[in-house]
Amino acid sequence: MNPNFQGLEKIPRHVAIIMDGNGRWAKERGLSRIEGHKEGAQSVRAILRAAAKSGVEFITVYAFSTENWKRPALEVDGLMALLVSSLNAYEQELHDNKICLRVMGQLERLPLFARKRIQKAMDATAHYTDHTFIIALSYGSRMEIADATRKIAEKVKKGEIQTKEINEQMISDHLYLPDVPNPELMIRTSGELRLSNFLLWQLSYSEFYITDTYWPDFREEQFFQALEAFNSRDRRYGGVNKK
Ligand code: FPP
Repeated sequence: MNPNFQGLEKIPRHVAIIMDGNGRWAKERGLSRIEGHKEGAQSVRAILRAAAKSGVEFITVYAFSTENWKRPALEVDGLMALLVSSLNAYEQELHDNKICLRVMGQLERLPLFARKRIQKAMDATAHYTDHTFIIALSYGSRMEIADATRKIAEKVKKGEIQTKEINEQMISDHLYLPDVPNPELMIRTSGELRLSNFLLWQLSYSEFYITDTYWPDFREEQFFQALEAFNSRDRRYGGVNKK
């Protein structure tokens, strides 16, 4: 099956994804959790290709949350190594589809070898403007909002801004990636009905698409189904339907 992305009326500019279910996918097959993450990394690659094909400009994936540091060291180390090997594997994809890589989160907590590899991939793709692939790494949305609040408070302290000037736009402008539009669609795999501290501010008006499919099984066809579901939604942003 070759999904007809061109047949869709609306294509979201930005799709954010909570990639869940790698562990359960592996367990069902008697494999180690890291095997599930490895297969999940193949799904990321497939979605990068599908996003470029469909015209989605921004893809953000939740690869590692601030809470994920609590996982066993073996799994954390495995995920860091997988991140690096995945960046090697995606390199061609990024160039072929003119995708710029960006990351968001507390990157200083990552091991040096991972930070170096990420920086290399970001530098090599910084000139691309067609598509952007954002990896949320060591990311927590409450921490992002706290960081933004601190930056604003420091400006108030220095007298650069006045408290009465603080509004929604100013908070958006102090988040990690202020130039990136809010996601219109958020996909979560494996059926969990939670936000898990992901883009709390940015997802305020987004459509949510929750599927029971585990992330390693989520490929182009499943991405197309999510976009189809998005097309069937009626987005009013708190207003009334003009139809
Ligand atoms: C959640 O599944 C998944 C993660 C915490 C890691 C996601 C990471 C990848 C797919 C690796 C590659 C990513 C990039 C961007 C290179 P889970 O372990 O919580 O699954 P479970 O709920 O079934 O246990």
